[in-house]
Amino acid sequence: MTTNTTVAPAQTAVTAETVAGVAQFLQPVVVELTALSVNAKQLHWHVRGANFGPIHELLDTLVDHARDWADLAAERIIALGLPVDGRVQTVAARTQAPELADGFQQSEDTIKAAIAQIDAALKVTHEAVVELDGIDLSSQDVALEIERGLDKDRWFFFAHIAEA
Ligand SMILES: [Fe+2]
Repeated sequence: MTTNTTVAPAQTAVTAETVAGVAQFLQPVVVELTALSVNAKQLHWHVRGANFGPIHELLDTLVDHARDWADLAAERIIALGLPVDGRVQTVAARTQAPELADGFQQSEDTIKAAIAQIDAALKVTHEAVVELDGIDLSSQDVALEIERGLDKDRWFFFAHIAEA
């Protein structure tokens, strides 16, 4: 015999207000990480000059990380029952990332551009960390994981141009 039960999207007792708060602060993270994955690939294709090989490969690692973290943030919202918007038109309209220069670039300019792209993602991710502290700790944990990862990737780029 089967029992008719209503199955909610998440098993934790989260209120509609909590879910709305999570979506409010993780949706911009999804947008910026999706933008980061696209722009890091653009940089990957166009880097030239000193240390071409390692920087070319490091940019592909950043693409992979950005895709994975966008998925992590998006699926946290989905797990709580709300949709996300990762459409290319939405991402293009909402991203705060600086526009990249067109065409080939020398590696030092590429590194500076990559750091600026990472910083745009870090800005909204840190905001999510701070704001989600009072809303939902599991969602804050998602933001914390992403922030730690972005900080580490930023260091890997910055170390190429650091003077001390
Ligand atoms: Fe490639």
